[in-house]
Amino acid sequence: MTEQTRQLIEKLAAGCVLQLEEYQELIDTRDQEAAILLAEKAVDIRKSIYGNAVYVRGLIEISNICKNNCLYCGIRRGNSHCDRYRLTSEEVISCADEGYELGFRTFVLQGGEDPFFTDQVLCQLITAIKARHPDCAVTISMGERSRESYKKLKEAGADRYLLRHETADREHYGRLHPPEMSFDTRMRCLRDLRELGFQVGCGFMVGSPYQTSRTLAEDLKFIEEFQPDMCGIGPFVPHKETPFKDQPAGTLELTCYLLSIIRLIHPPVLLPATTALGTIHPQGREKGILAGANVVMPNLSPVSVRKKYELYDNKICTGEESAQCKDCLGARMESVGYRIVTDRGDIKK
Ligand code: 5AD
Ligand code: FES
Repeated sequence: MTEQTRQLIEKLAAGCVLQLEEYQELIDTRDQEAAILLAEKAVDIRKSIYGNAVYVRGLIEISNICKNNCLYCGIRRGNSHCDRYRLTSEEVISCADEGYELGFRTFVLQGGEDPFFTDQVLCQLITAIKARHPDCAVTISMGERSRESYKKLKEAGADRYLLRHETADREHYGRLHPPEMSFDTRMRCLRDLRELGFQVGCGFMVGSPYQTSRTLAEDLKFIEEFQPDMCGIGPFVPHKETPFKDQPAGTLELTCYLLSIIRLIHPPVLLPATTALGTIHPQGREKGILAGANVVMPNLSPVSVRKKYELYDNKICTGEESAQCKDCLGARMESVGYRIVTDRGDIKK
């Protein structure tokens, strides 16, 4: 590690903001020694806020029907090999009930941009879950919607919304998405969600095609400015039925390095060790926690649909029942000295 890199890490850990060029340099000059130092600082600061608690969110994949055609995504409209499904409201509610019994106090309803989920349908679902489990947080991750729609979801009781920005670089955004999708709309959605009072999550894939240290530095700058409550980052993993099928996957090493940086940029942020990270390495999620993450998201979807929610190839946790998935993650967290807590897991500010 160069002296310059060490100074950048010390500066970040001291709570100073870095210039765009400095973030870029921190990424470009990284080595194992720098990664270890960053992770140490990230874990220290996270422990001072969250101790050794890891929050769990029960992920319910409610539909793989999507009107969008993102170039990286396995459930894109253009993938005619994708076996489409949509859970009924009763099925979603029964997943949440099962999750509640297992100790989950946050449910994430995630799906493609499926036109079936009108405001009315989604609001009824949110209302029903909140009525049955008033002590739980409901997180929605259903893509871009109008401000009016987000407002209705909030009024129905949704607490949080996840919408990855995917990249903070306009030109890069254009290379990951078809022309009908817009960077400005994505940013507008995130700001609307924030203004409407949601706890908001943004995020991006590590190693997505055309990503550079410069675009990553822009992502970091965006996170620094936007101060998201949650930030989902995981490696890009190619899916065989997408235009990016021959592109290389992102790495564990860079993902962990960025997790540490993001923890230091915004210490209270809720940062998941993602399923994609667990997919590219058998101990990926454990390593994510050891780099500064503090959230895991076991799958609560019915086993019958899990393989169909295939955003990328070889996704893990597709054969396990919800209880198995939770126990597996519990054991994994304990193996590295952490414990899963039964709690809504709100951000500590
Ligand atoms: N590899 C990794 N992550 C992906 N996502 C979509 N496709 C892939 C892929 N091939 C991520 C996107 C999206 C989230 C739901 O999943 O960042 O926002
Ligand atoms: Fe729907 Fe990517 S194609 S989120």
